[in-house]
Amino acid sequence: MHKPLTRQNRFDAAREDAGMLELGVCYYPEQWPREKWDEDARRMVELGLAWVRIGEFAWSHIEPQPGTFQWEWMDEAIEVLGCAGLKVILGTPTAAPPKWLVDRYPDILPVDARGVVRKFGARRHYCFSSRRYRVEAARITEAMVRRYGDNPFVHAWQTDNEYGDHDTIHSYSDEAKLAFREWLAARYGTIEGMNHAWGTQFWSMHYNSFDEVDLPNNLVEEPTPTHLVDYYRFSSDQVKSFNKAQVDIIRRHSPGRPVTHNFMNQNTDFDHYEVGEDIDIASWDVYPMGGLINGRLSAEEKARYLRVGDPDQTAFNHDIYRAVGRGRVWVMEQQPGPVNWAAHNQSPADGMVRLWTWLAYAHGVDMVSYFRWRQAPFAQEQFHAGLLLPNSEVDQGYLEVAQVAEEMARLPQGERRGKAEVAIVLDYESRFATRALPQGQGYAASAIALDWYSAIARLGVDVDVIGQHSDLSGYKLVVAPDLVIPDADFIARLKASGAKALFGPRSGSKTRDMHIPADLPPGPLADLIDFRVTRVESLPEYHSEAVLYGNISHAVTGWRELIRTNETVLATFEGEHRQGGAAIIGNDHTRYVGTLPRGEFLGRLMGDTLRWAGVESLSDLGDLRLARRGNLRFAFNYGNAPASVPASATAEFLVGGRDLAPVDVAIWTETR
Ligand code: GAL
Repeated sequence: MHKPLTRQNRFDAAREDAGMLELGVCYYPEQWPREKWDEDARRMVELGLAWVRIGEFAWSHIEPQPGTFQWEWMDEAIEVLGCAGLKVILGTPTAAPPKWLVDRYPDILPVDARGVVRKFGARRHYCFSSRRYRVEAARITEAMVRRYGDNPFVHAWQTDNEYGDHDTIHSYSDEAKLAFREWLAARYGTIEGMNHAWGTQFWSMHYNSFDEVDLPNNLVEEPTPTHLVDYYRFSSDQVKSFNKAQVDIIRRHSPGRPVTHNFMNQNTDFDHYEVGEDIDIASWDVYPMGGLINGRLSAEEKARYLRVGDPDQTAFNHDIYRAVGRGRVWVMEQQPGPVNWAAHNQSPADGMVRLWTWLAYAHGVDMVSYFRWRQAPFAQEQFHAGLLLPNSEVDQGYLEVAQVAEEMARLPQGERRGKAEVAIVLDYESRFATRALPQGQGYAASAIALDWYSAIARLGVDVDVIGQHSDLSGYKLVVAPDLVIPDADFIARLKASGAKALFGPRSGSKTRDMHIPADLPPGPLADLIDFRVTRVESLPEYHSEAVLYGNISHAVTGWRELIRTNETVLATFEGEHRQGGAAIIGNDHTRYVGTLPRGEFLGRLMGDTLRWAGVESLSDLGDLRLARRGNLRFAFNYGNAPASVPASATAEFLVGGRDLAPVDVAIWTETR
């Protein structure tokens, strides 16, 4: 048992309940000499931090030899941090199994798509399907939760760390193969059911039993897409059950303390709603500099936003994880300066750490924790900034956090993010579908969805992210950029909700078995809008087609559909090939886009769609972005020139003012 604790934590849940922003930091006591801990804890509190996350990579420090535990250092670290006034978030250490465990049970290691074992020496070296690893993960989780479950300084738990980081959801191990067969047997009941769904009459792929089925890697040509999508569904379910096992242990021995997991920027390797269902708060890790480098923008746009990041990617993710957390969302890791892991690692502009913190709060985040407290002078992340330099001097991020802490005090309590009028559908299964069958090189559903989100955000409109399970009441407009596999139930609820709907290409193009719907695409969507897609084509970047929309011709590339319809045609393809074909169609409540509008075209389309749905919007904000949390209004300037904030003459500014410098934030209220 942990030693008796003397002082209670002086923080309580009141601050969070009050809708106030709380700040925190990721800390690794095991990486620093004991003499530094007290001073570190004191300085964290002095900076205005309330939370500290520890432990998520500490397994070999807790259990250096099989069955030999050394808890004393962690007891002490929690005591030091807690007594200083910090609330501890304790991470289960399963993202980094120790060497002795790997040596003992090599079958816990994951196997990549080439069939090569991924070895020890970094982290996330485990396969979700390893039965042995599940036993071991439960064992270490239980040992940790039994020890700290009622520790007064431990206020929340984080399971594991970043499921999906370093492409670790998909493992091709023997253990995964066996588990996949069981999963298929449970899904289909009979092998003939599976044969039918997979279309195995094609290319002589017929199976006589589930025991014959292998994983879909290292084949001569591509597998049937149903094989792939089932493998993605299976892998997603493995993450859910792996996570749930830890959550159950935590709930048993540490009741009443919220459980979170730290998700990643637009990761769609597993169904996040499913994992979100089992936790109390969704958190995610915010690294906009790497996000820009790896992201959707052109090289020219990346150069323009190099030190501020994609103006919409981070906001979109806040909205995604607010949906995953059913309203409760935290930032577990906020980049405090340059990082080490992207293709290039630029320094953010001074002021961005503050801007990102306020952006998070504006989008409904209640706690922002920075990664990390002090830059490490050793090991893999030496180039990764912290709030402090390796010698403990303050770095730029620290100064900006201090500014946020000071500004926080000026804001009223009790402001909560409300429901938006516009919702964008993110459906993970549909993402599995386009991943399995992209049909064109570079087809990236995530980038398309972000383009759509961005086109709405540029018009000053708040957006909620929803899944097909979500409550649709109150929305005036639902946009679905890539709903490949719609449920009939969702379509019926959408119809009944009275919301207007805008669907992107490929919507309704596959059944759950990954077949073409019996009466052609758009399958169940035809209940909302009457058309058929009789042909699709993917187009290379070096070719564009012209689309005439409201008398203006726009170039599109990437994707074009051939649509047969009696509905109103709102835009047509011009040019030699199939001149006059429908590009956008619509009726009173539903519109469908059979191509991929971008840039100005997409902006016009969204502006018109918002007007059609009766949603108030502004003209293109350029590099300014707005958001609303309760009565608080926020503006963020991502541009390199001053911008004017669209506040009324009687607005009361709490932070900043009407003229907003680059990288600056304004917060105001309108007179009610
Ligand atoms: C995250 C991870 C952290 C740290 C960070 C560096 O993906 O959760 O442990 O490695 O990246 O930016």
